[in-house]
Amino acid sequence: MSESFKRHRRLRSSAAMRSIVRENELKMDDFIYPLFVMEGNDIKNEVPSMPGVYQLSLDNLKEEADELLSLGIKAIMLFGIPSEKDEQGTGAFKENGIVQQATRLMKKEAPELLIVADTCLCEYTSHGHCGVIHHEDVDNDESLKLLAKTAVSQAEAGADIIAPSNMMDGFVAVIREALDEAGYNNIPIMSYAVKYASAFYGPFRDAADSSPQFGDRKTYQMDPSNRLEALRETESDIEEGADFLIVKPAMSFLDIVRDVRNHSNTPVVAYNVSGEYSMVKAAALNGWIDEKELVLEKLTAMKRAGADLIISYFAKDVAKWL
Ligand code: PBG
Repeated sequence: MSESFKRHRRLRSSAAMRSIVRENELKMDDFIYPLFVMEGNDIKNEVPSMPGVYQLSLDNLKEEADELLSLGIKAIMLFGIPSEKDEQGTGAFKENGIVQQATRLMKKEAPELLIVADTCLCEYTSHGHCGVIHHEDVDNDESLKLLAKTAVSQAEAGADIIAPSNMMDGFVAVIREALDEAGYNNIPIMSYAVKYASAFYGPFRDAADSSPQFGDRKTYQMDPSNRLEALRETESDIEEGADFLIVKPAMSFLDIVRDVRNHSNTPVVAYNVSGEYSMVKAAALNGWIDEKELVLEKLTAMKRAGADLIISYFAKDVAKWL
């Protein structure tokens, strides 16, 4: 006589049994590690709100590259901290800008490491906004011109992937056209297709020194209340030629990761942002949680939600744990 209920525990009975039915697993190929490079010498500043994350000067990059390769990390995302800022953020597209120099150096020291260049102006503008200011707001089309210049200069320096993050309308179209015209039709665009105006970016702005000096980013980054808007952003970025779609932040937006995955067949990238990192680190340092178990659980949840790739400050920790 058959039982009147189903025995789900049969498939959980041993480690081996669980492993053969496991649906999602993390591997080092899934990760992109963000790196903050700073103008100057002999700099290795730990970011106070992000224990284990450093601002590094160029002379410390060789050691960093060796460590990343030995850990099996395949890709890094570069953020630059220039020594001088101005209204237009010209440091973002200078031939010898900090990201351009870091890219050349990394390509020399560790040619097999993929360099993803974050393409934005906020680290380079004196006002801290992601574009050019007109009448107290960021001017979309003027900012696009500078963003396209930045992308081309990053490609010239050797970046393997261009990742525009400033949330101007049309940024993928304009960057695609500029890259193609400059002869870089083989360089993919990893678009921050869905980027919310989030309180989870706080620690990053300490690390990159990129807080807006007035106002906020709500006229260009998305309202966390919205879901359909994410699909509109996704559609236009695909039409404009995005090769990857980033959803950011990740942890509180896994429904959106799933929506974007179901809506497209383009690789989806979840950005496990600074505030998500800091919260876990703070709890771990207090001994309140099991850091390894918790981090592996939440990163696996990002894959389960549909992410193909994860940008995470935990990538080095994960490499040690896996
Ligand atoms: C630049 C940019 C930001 C982040 C990535 N690129 C900050 C922002 O939009 O204010 C945040 C990353 C993080 O919090 O880890 N526009």
